[in-house]
Amino acid sequence: MQKVEAIIRPEKLQVVKMALEELNHAGMTLTEVRGHGIQRGITEQWRGRSFAVEYLTKVKVELVVADGDVAEVVDRIIEAARTGEVGDGKIFVTPVTSAVRIRTGERDDAAL
Ligand SMILES: Nc1ncnc2c1ncn2[C@@H]1O[C@H](COP(=O)(O)OP(=O)(O)OP(=O)(O)O)[C@@H](O)[C@H]1O
Ligand SMILES: [Mg+2]
Repeated sequence: MQKVEAIIRPEKLQVVKMALEELNHAGMTLTEVRGHGIQRGITEQWRGRSFAVEYLTKVKVELVVADGDVAEVVDRIIEAARTGEVGDGKIFVTPVTSAVRIRTGERDDAAL
């Protein structure tokens, strides 16, 4: 199992959700987050001056998926979330060592 953590533009959430629902993925967690990337949140330019907007609001989408589903989930998110402009976001993939469905006690892939 792997956790796919995608930090995306809030306005892309709907289209990302639709793209993921097509894959019939069962569970997902959404969080409103604030952060910055390599531009350090500096987005506004006015008369040649830059204004620091230190932390920009993004949405974090987390899905724990079976190893064989990672590539497709990541590809779908990229396709749905990309504008080509700075600030499109980032995807991190990390290993998950165990999962449990509390109601049934099912474990690992069966718990997803
Ligand atoms: N290295 C990182 N670690 C943790 N979170 C990050 C990291 N890089 C980006 N993020 C998160 O992702 C959000 C979007 O980042 P962003 O897309 O601006 O990345 P970037 O590296 O600046 O790429 P780009 O040049 O395309 O803007 C940030 O606001 C922050 O919440
Ligand atoms: Mg950036």
